[in-house]
Amino acid sequence: MNPTAISSQPLLLSDAEELRDLVESARRDGKTVALVPSMGALHAGHLSLVRAARAECDFTVATIFVNPTQFAPGEDYRCYRRTLDADLAALAALGVDVVFAPAVEQMYPDGHTTTVDVGGVALPLEGVCRPDHFRGVATVVLKLFHLAPAHVAYFGQKDYQQSLVVRQMVGDLDLPIRIRVCPIVREADGLALSSRNEYLSHSERRQALALSQSLRLASELYCVGERDAAVLRQRMREVFNSAGIGDIDYIALADRDRLEDVAVVGDETIALVAARVGKTRLIDNHLFDAPFAIHPAAR
Ligand code: PAJ
Repeated sequence: MNPTAISSQPLLLSDAEELRDLVESARRDGKTVALVPSMGALHAGHLSLVRAARAECDFTVATIFVNPTQFAPGEDYRCYRRTLDADLAALAALGVDVVFAPAVEQMYPDGHTTTVDVGGVALPLEGVCRPDHFRGVATVVLKLFHLAPAHVAYFGQKDYQQSLVVRQMVGDLDLPIRIRVCPIVREADGLALSSRNEYLSHSERRQALALSQSLRLASELYCVGERDAAVLRQRMREVFNSAGIGDIDYIALADRDRLEDVAVVGDETIALVAARVGKTRLIDNHLFDAPFAIHPAAR
């Protein structure tokens, strides 16, 4: 496909060779290259990563690819929202240089068999609930790092375990790329922005607040001196119970680097929650090194 250059629009590419050529030429020109991987259906959380990339680098590549290998059978791969036109408009408004939106056959041609198993931090929590998920994530992220050899890649703290998995892979495989993790963007009432929030009915949207409210409560209790992980976990569970959410995958208080459960909470601890609200699975987290705060969407 020929690159389609529309004035002040990012260059939309689906061809991997063209993408690599462009990025390599930007690097030869001495530009710092940023990569912002996403699955599209962009919201202000994604766009905060793009803003950071634009502010910190000279050339920004955004990728949009709903990666089939990170979805289990029965998950929402088929109905995952695909909103390419709106995504392109949002990325154009932020001055992104290139958008790479490959077809599935481009990323996974017939005969593709190699996958990346990170182990370690990929195993607990999401690794238990979605056993093949991080293999799919690591594989596609490694491919994107090769296709768009950027200096810095931007990820969100919203998917905290994912960011650890990517960092682990980068370290283990000596990948020449820096990982930047940006804060969670939330609605004014605390709900973390997620493409999956669109699935929530009005009443589910209200129930979904339990995730951020449980984290806020844990933070408040920590700030007044509570350090017992069992106490915090119980108090968090009560928030889910009051909201009528019974389908909790985990409420974890874990070491922020290794994601191992802790008994005593400290500044190096992270609280992570995952639950199903109706049919929609949501995740959220809070690092105890700072009080719970709402980073609202930039307008
Ligand atoms: P996706 O869910 O589209 O998210 C893309 C990036 O946006 C991730 O790094 C995610 O953590 C970040 N993000 C999502 N919601 C956010 C929020 N409320 N605040 C800040 N950042 C937020 O994560 C993926 O796609 C895929 O697994 C991917 C890495 C692209 C591999 O397929």
